Amino acid sequence: MTRVFSGVKPTGHLTLGNYLGAVRQWVAGSGDPARQRPEAALFCVVDLHALTVEHDPARVRRLSRQAATLLLAAGLDPERCTLFVQSHVDEHTRLAYLLECTASDGELRRMIQYREKAAKAQAAGDGVRLSLLTYPVLMAADILAYATDEVPVGEDQRQHVELTRDLAVRFNQRYGQTFTVPRATHPEVAARVMDLQEPTSKMGKSHDVGAGIVYLLDEPEVVRKKVMRAVTDSGSGVAHDREGKPGVTNLLDILAACTGADPRALAGEYGSYGALKKDTAEAVIELLRPVRERHAELAADPAAVEKVLRAGAERARSVARPVVDRAYEAIGLLAP
Ligand code: AMP
Ligand code: TRP
Repeated sequence: MTRVFSGVKPTGHLTLGNYLGAVRQWVAGSGDPARQRPEAALFCVVDLHALTVEHDPARVRRLSRQAATLLLAAGLDPERCTLFVQSHVDEHTRLAYLLECTASDGELRRMIQYREKAAKAQAAGDGVRLSLLTYPVLMAADILAYATDEVPVGEDQRQHVELTRDLAVRFNQRYGQTFTVPRATHPEVAARVMDLQEPTSKMGKSHDVGAGIVYLLDEPEVVRKKVMRAVTDSGSGVAHDREGKPGVTNLLDILAACTGADPRALAGEYGSYGALKKDTAEAVIELLRPVRERHAELAADPAAVEKVLRAGAERARSVARPVVDRAYEAIGLLAP
């Protein structure tokens, strides 16, 4: 059995980047007959990670519920996978401490996302939470607690999964074979969806200005406006060139990801930016339509979503518990 694990942070509304880079892969994978056992695919709303930067408690709670509802709306089937909330399963933080005793201060300070977010928090005068530094260790615990083989994520998580692999190998070398060494998987197209207004930065849900971000729950008219106003590049030729034409290339990638076409081949089909934007807007609207509609149905019955999460947490616990117990023993702690 190949086990898959991945997660999403409730720090903002889910975006098209989350969907194309990660969530869609999770849903596609659960259609694979080899992965139809619920304990073979686990997906998690990683709420503890949302506390690493300034946060509003009520908002985190609301966004956690919304993220879980959206994952179901996007097609995760609770009969075929395990959907749960990180803070409901203690094994994550239990294991994180052992991994803090495995990781070094230097390797965490080198993480790109830490450096960027720490600089941002400092500039805002917020102070940097210690948990922002140790965040990748908790993420490693999320993954290793389930003896995960594959971690389907967007490009921006590559470095964190590399660290997870390093920690697993190091722990195994020091204390004996305990953890499965996981690998990251990325979609072929749209592993890094860029902001429509700032196509050299990632489309990120926690950005302050939303004009360049398509949210999964945006109304069709809003999606159309955002895509039609996307920043394009100087010159008029439509070419797939990430360095020279980041705006147009982002649109081509998004359109390709929506339609299953090859982004380079698509470039040859367009003579103007306007036509490309129009087709991209319509493709995104059609892609998101069923997700939005299903979300509205599911959101009307929050008790049903909670039931799925409770059952998910129980199953997740039963998978993680023996792995984490083994790690406690291996590292030298006395059995209770
Ligand atoms: P996050 O929003 O940081 O919790 O990310 C959840 C998942 O979505 C992770 O696997 C990310 O790599 C992926 N993701 C987030 N933003 C993007 C983006 N702009 N393009 C592609 N994947 C993304
Ligand atoms: N750090 C990831 C992100 O920002 C979210 C995450 C937390 C995650 N734990 C994980 C992703 C475990 C995959 C596996 O997107």
